[in-house]
Amino acid sequence: MSTLLERLHRDHAILRRLLDLLSSQLDDFFAGRESNFDLKIELLDFIEHYAEQIHHPTEDLLFQVAKNRCSEDGELFERIGDQHPNLEALTHRFRETLEGVIQGEVMPREEVEVRGREFVALQRQHIDQEEQEIFPLLEKCLAAEDWETLLTEVPLGEDVLFSREDFARFRGLIEFLSGHGNE
Ligand SMILES: [Fe+2]
Repeated sequence: MSTLLERLHRDHAILRRLLDLLSSQLDDFFAGRESNFDLKIELLDFIEHYAEQIHHPTEDLLFQVAKNRCSEDGELFERIGDQHPNLEALTHRFRETLEGVIQGEVMPREEVEVRGREFVALQRQHIDQEEQEIFPLLEKCLAAEDWETLLTEVPLGEDVLFSREDFARFRGLIEFLSGHGNE
């Protein structure tokens, strides 16, 4: 498997873990148990930041080239790619919702729950669709030379999740993840 596809798989694995973490944090909140809002907000900030800067631009570039190679699959690449800005906006909105809650904005718990469940479900649905339908198509449509060229064109050349400056911004999340037996 190409380095780039491996990187996207890894991103998805991490995103799934973060969505699981968010889900269990939201379960605590909905059940009236103690729940760490700062962690949830940092987590959403990270998902939004990473998707917007790295993950989606990488996929968009791959989809674009693959669409040119396999025009018969163009509609599917377009449809899934079009979900990217919507997911970023959804992430942004849900983060604002949670920020509103800690700032004392009055919002029924059920409303936060509906938005939270919707956010997690749509993110998972998108990842599953990419893994099951899009990634096999990328392998079919892109040649070895395409992967090589694309590797030099994607936004992040290095293979790290958190860059140096991210450590300060996402300190709570990084500490939480490393304290829970994860890499
Ligand atoms: Fe993705």
